[in-house]
Amino acid sequence: MIQAQIRVRAQQAIGRIDRTIYGHFVEHMGRCVYGGLWAEMLANRKFNGPDLAEFGVVSPWVSLGGGPGVTYDHDNTTFYSGDQSQMIAVRNDDGRPHGVAQGPLALRGGQSYRLRVVLRQEQLSGPVRFALEDKAGRPYVVEERCCVEGSWQRHELTLTAPVDDATARLSLTCRGTGTLWLGAASLMPEDNLAGWRRDVVEAVRALQPPLIRWPGGNFASAYHWQDGIGPRDGRPSRADVAWGALEPNDVGTGEFMALCRELGAAPYLCVNLGSGTPEEAAAWVEYCNGPEESVYGRLRAEHGHPEPYGVHYWGVGNETYGNWQHGHVDARTYARRYRAFAAAMRAVDPTIALVGVGAQPYEAPGWNDAVLEMVGRELDYLSLHHYTPGYGPGELPPDHQPNHEALYPAVVAGPERVEELLQEAQAALAQRGLAGRVRLALDEWNAWVHAHYDCGEGKPHLLRDGLYAAGMYHVMQRQCGLVAMANLAQLVNVLGAIYTTPQGLFVTPVYLANRLYAEHSGPVSLATEVESPTFAAPAAAFLPARRHARYVDAQATADDSGTRLCLAVINRHSHEPAEVQIEVEGAAVAAQGQAYQLNGPSALSGNSAARPNVVTLRALPGFQAAGRFSYTFPAHSATVLELCLTGA
Ligand code: AHR
Repeated sequence: MIQAQIRVRAQQAIGRIDRTIYGHFVEHMGRCVYGGLWAEMLANRKFNGPDLAEFGVVSPWVSLGGGPGVTYDHDNTTFYSGDQSQMIAVRNDDGRPHGVAQGPLALRGGQSYRLRVVLRQEQLSGPVRFALEDKAGRPYVVEERCCVEGSWQRHELTLTAPVDDATARLSLTCRGTGTLWLGAASLMPEDNLAGWRRDVVEAVRALQPPLIRWPGGNFASAYHWQDGIGPRDGRPSRADVAWGALEPNDVGTGEFMALCRELGAAPYLCVNLGSGTPEEAAAWVEYCNGPEESVYGRLRAEHGHPEPYGVHYWGVGNETYGNWQHGHVDARTYARRYRAFAAAMRAVDPTIALVGVGAQPYEAPGWNDAVLEMVGRELDYLSLHHYTPGYGPGELPPDHQPNHEALYPAVVAGPERVEELLQEAQAALAQRGLAGRVRLALDEWNAWVHAHYDCGEGKPHLLRDGLYAAGMYHVMQRQCGLVAMANLAQLVNVLGAIYTTPQGLFVTPVYLANRLYAEHSGPVSLATEVESPTFAAPAAAFLPARRHARYVDAQATADDSGTRLCLAVINRHSHEPAEVQIEVEGAAVAAQGQAYQLNGPSALSGNSAARPNVVTLRALPGFQAAGRFSYTFPAHSATVLELCLTGA
């Protein structure tokens, strides 16, 4: 058992916590949007990109019923969107259906699916056939439609799956002879919420997200927002140069705004400073915030949203200092570009808040000084990113297996380093008289321990990372005078808070930490002193070694009326409980307290699809509180004690 002391000064507020510190981040990256949040079940639904597996058949679709007299082609002269369609030409009728299929698709018995197919035919002698079937092609549900010749036609139908099947497929075929072009197809469960996956949205809703950053990240530096507006089937697929993927542009401005509306979250958009222009960014501001009479406001109204979206937060570029970034430049060039972007964007809407790119000293030393010197007075926020310990793609071999045990002390002590980094950035602001005027936006942060951002599919997501996140909330609450916004990177699947499978999802310890602090904290940060034994943490990636990291860390917050006090306490010890003497000074404490705790069977226990509830967030039985009391916090836990204050 270790011993520690905490003193909370209930009458000494150290600042106001902006709720946006509990914010999130959604990037078009890996399975965050497509295959995660977005409900679309088909990959490459617009038949763009290469034919990797079969000549003439656009990947990942596969041919059905091929044979002599049947030709498949990715057709770049007749297409519906982008610059390509899937063509199937049948010269000999052998009695079988000919076309393409895609699987595996996870069907839920009793669930209805909305299928939409945009197609065109010439001299087709038979009907077009739409089927959900098992992987061997035995149909569950089939519809056939006759199509008129000539122009592109849209077919919409509802297919209800009779059984659960995790390896089902969709087939799109034709009978007889003739030519069929497939321009676009979409399959979504009918219970989607404006195109978003219902179960994932509900898991996000439980976090009450105050703010969501979008569309990147690195992705933002080559994203052209006009690709993502208007009718979805007609939007072009584009090469995503940041992540080497094919971007279907199904999720664009309108879809993201609908998600934010659904969740009651404020949108935070990051403009393309990599390959974009000030004019393009300004047009995006007008599309979002301009009146219906403006050029882009009219376009928004044509797309079904006459009311301006009123986007307040705008990032001007992402990690522009890094050579991994599309269009990266040196600090002075960035500052000049920032000035041009900011002027154009503010000319459209002078009320917007702009976040300029800042950098950590370990990534781009001197960057912040140069940017602040040139455009410090034109910033509302300076962005900082930090991943602990900070491995990124390409820095480690993909098969690298982290030594989780050795990394435990470094990761859980990581927030102490972040606190120093925030103070360094603040010193740079203060030196130029910008403290208080420009606030810090920690608009990407998380634990990043694996070589790859998916953290190793199937591997458990560890309590350790949840304790790290808890420590980060302590830092942000304590440094609320410096940090005015933060975005956990990322919400779904990528380093994620939520992990999805085609059939369901599980939440990680980082999600649980976000929930614990977003739900059980007040807006007022209180002076909190901690005396705790310490441990040594080894250096790891971006983290230098620490000789004296605190086992016990604490931060108290209160509500505006000063009647509810939330004392958050982390015990970072991997196997010893902590007996803590707690003193609340300056207020009388009611006898009954409530406790909420994040914990699991061991420091390195974790949640996975196979074992989703190993690490949990639980309400504990009430406890006996007082002005001075003792509480024992189990090893590797984060706990919030809620106390009622009854006066000084
Ligand atoms: O969050 C993953 C990536 O990490 C982001 O795209 C980028 O901004 C950072 O380097």
